[in-house]
Amino acid sequence: MEDQIFFTLLICFIISIILYLFIETKRRRINLPPGSLGIPYVGQTLTLLRAMKANKAEKWLSDRIERHGPVSKLTLFGFPTVLLAGAEANRFLFSSDSTVMTLQQPQSFRKIFGTRNLLEMSGEEHRRMRAVFMRFLKPEMLKEYVGVMDGEVRRHLEMNWRGKETVTVFPLIKTLTFDIMCTLFFGLAQCPRKAQMLRDFSHIMDGIWSIPLDLPFTSFRRSVQASAGIRRSLLDIIQAKRSALESGLASSSHGDLITCFLSMGGGVGPEALTEEEVMDNSLLAMTAGHETTSIVLVFLIRRLAIDAGVYEAVLREQEGIAQTKCPGETLTWEDLNKMDYTWRAAKETMRMIPPIFGNVRRAVKDIEYNGYVIPKGWQIFWAASPTHMDERIFPTRPDSIPRTSMTSRTSFLRILSWGLEQARGSVRGTSSRGSRS
Ligand code: HEM
Repeated sequence: MEDQIFFTLLICFIISIILYLFIETKRRRINLPPGSLGIPYVGQTLTLLRAMKANKAEKWLSDRIERHGPVSKLTLFGFPTVLLAGAEANRFLFSSDSTVMTLQQPQSFRKIFGTRNLLEMSGEEHRRMRAVFMRFLKPEMLKEYVGVMDGEVRRHLEMNWRGKETVTVFPLIKTLTFDIMCTLFFGLAQCPRKAQMLRDFSHIMDGIWSIPLDLPFTSFRRSVQASAGIRRSLLDIIQAKRSALESGLASSSHGDLITCFLSMGGGVGPEALTEEEVMDNSLLAMTAGHETTSIVLVFLIRRLAIDAGVYEAVLREQEGIAQTKCPGETLTWEDLNKMDYTWRAAKETMRMIPPIFGNVRRAVKDIEYNGYVIPKGWQIFWAASPTHMDERIFPTRPDSIPRTSMTSRTSFLRILSWGLEQARGSVRGTSSRGSRS
């Protein structure tokens, strides 16, 4: 009997070795990009996370590109990965459809955002889910949102900013963008359990780019718990919305995001979204929208604070628009179109401080790029800074702010304390798509 067990184990071992050698030989034959995969599963994840925490992720990337070129292999978040950097790589990546690569995210992301969110879908499913988002984001709807957003901004300025000697911008902007989202996404001026939801949101990003170890005191555990907390609140909101729709108290043509989700396919039949899909996608949209817009606004205000020229030009443009309005009249879509300079300042802010550090995709087949092969199942990683900071694409102009001056403090509307070191640490270090939005 013992001999039999030993023999079976020996056979299994020999088969495993043969299989391993076969796969390795096949892999060596294909031309993989330069770079090392490092220790299996972990690879370069910890060094990237450490660099992000120290706000040195851009340097981590540029060192890597200098060492291996714009295409290199590494291991991130448990998967063999190929980093693709540069304008040509971005073009290739963003124009590839789901027969080449999907947006499938690492395990940590799925544990937080669920398996039925848009990024986990491909092909027809992705198209269908994207159409729901686009229904919410189509131009006619966006035009309606301008007045609503303006109302929220005025309320917040009156409540939290006007007459204050000192304001801390980062938390105020986070609350403002959250309130706007509550109105636009849920059709609720005030979300129930709002304070708790906002607290949970501040933790949800912690674990997105992390080793998915669900252990006490890890950022991943914090993030998973925050996701569970937000889901509990979302469930109440979804149920209230559903019963308002069913009883005719709300209309499916009223355009908040949850109503768009719940009304898909008339709310019944194969086209309708499941509760899990409504939940996962609401959570994704909230995180995608909240982190990104908060980051842009905070750093735009910072830019106004440290660059008098930009401040004067933005002020002039805004005052010009304000002069055309009657007292109390809200902003319109047409007014936004007149904000050419302000929008350019916002775009420059996004270039210098990308709200999304980068994101991953998954190869659905062997992909050839630049003479290298990206094997099926591997991750593909893009990052914003290699193109945003490329002098050949964006030459430094005399009027642009040197990045080293981003920490300096000057007075702007007597806003003296910015809370921006907190923003730099928690925002830049953890936003993936952030953020992946
Ligand atoms: C300044 C604000 C924003 C920035 C800079 C931003 C940036 C991005 C980027 C770079 C991507 C592509 C990611 C990739 O393909 O790897 C993306 C995708 C996405 N964003 Fe945003 N975003 C912003 C605001 C929003 C808002 C407000 C929403 C909420 C509705 C949102 C929802 C999404 C969704 C659902 C996707 C995935 C789209 C798809 O896979 O088809 N984003 N965003």
